[in-house]
Amino acid sequence: MPFFLFKLSGESIELGLQELGALLWPKKLELVEQFGSFVLAKAKISEQALKSTLERSSFIKFAALVVRKLNSLLLEELSKVNWSFVESPFCVRVINLTEHGPLSLEAKLAAPIYDYLWHHRGKIPKVSLSAPKTIVLFLIREKDIFVCKKFWESKKGKFAGREPAQKPVFHPTSLKPKLALLLVNLSRVKKGQSLLDPFCGTGSVLIEAGLIGCKPIGIDLDEKMISGAKTNLDFYGVKAKLLVGNALELQKYFKPNSIDGIATDPPYGRSTKIGAKSLNALYKGFFSSAFKVLKKGKFLSIIYPHYVPAKKFIDKAKWSVVFETQMKVHGGLTRKFLVLQKR
Ligand SMILES: C[S@@+](CC[C@H](N)C(=O)[O-])C[C@H]1O[C@@H](n2cnc3c(N)ncnc32)[C@H](O)[C@@H]1O
Repeated sequence: MPFFLFKLSGESIELGLQELGALLWPKKLELVEQFGSFVLAKAKISEQALKSTLERSSFIKFAALVVRKLNSLLLEELSKVNWSFVESPFCVRVINLTEHGPLSLEAKLAAPIYDYLWHHRGKIPKVSLSAPKTIVLFLIREKDIFVCKKFWESKKGKFAGREPAQKPVFHPTSLKPKLALLLVNLSRVKKGQSLLDPFCGTGSVLIEAGLIGCKPIGIDLDEKMISGAKTNLDFYGVKAKLLVGNALELQKYFKPNSIDGIATDPPYGRSTKIGAKSLNALYKGFFSSAFKVLKKGKFLSIIYPHYVPAKKFIDKAKWSVVFETQMKVHGGLTRKFLVLQKR
């Protein structure tokens, strides 16, 4: 089984790991080791398939194929590596996690690869730092050295132009695109499948879902929010089904067991109309309504504030908890993340 190295977003290693597992689902990710934001894992997936899967990721920074594990950087050890995966022009990158290790090894480590290519290909190889065909990555961690082929990296500025303040219709509750995409990914919806956000607000979740090829459906109790979501979706060229409605009555708008995934961020307080007698009643009613319309075996991902005891309202006979975690926003607010699977 291929052996991969991943670098996850420092914002939350746990959410990055969960996103990785969700993107590969139903394939399994076999975690081998984790150190800081680096993860070594096995998965039954080709490099090419993984590369296209990761294009939609939010909390994953890069991926590399582990080619070989070495015990030292001596020439004798380096000569054990089969460098035939290297295409010219290439470059060498070193991530040195040992405190006292040499700082710049890149040129030194490129030398034996250069010699190998020259000897085996009969052409003078080239090194290119700006446009290499192969990036050979050495991850140095105490006595272990992982020789890797880095094959995917998250695009810089991936969310540029979609931050809440950059959208035509802004609302203080608008979710950042990085979190919105993470929520969509945690719901495990695939391209072409329906993704419902029943508290859609200005449409942040729907936009991210539409941009990765899902079929977004948004509901909000507030007519103004639905019209704001429409303006925002049009701005990014995303088509979605939008309805003014109550998230506690989803069965009124959808057939039973018809939705492929739910990703949502319900209200944090009662400052607006919530269509329920209390915040607790809203969450309880929503889980029960979501159960009716979601397909069996499919997932619901939700972000909510720490002071809502959402888990208390989940009927364990209907849902299994896939995972939960939290992320501090500021002194007074911690966001909880919960993923459920319909039994
Ligand atoms: C935290 S905001 C969602 C923000 C959204 N994720 C965004 O990025 O714009 C919660 C939304 O839920 C809506 N809402 C409140 N109660 C509702 C209910 N019972 N059914 C549907 N929508 C409701 C509110 O109008 C508000 O727009």
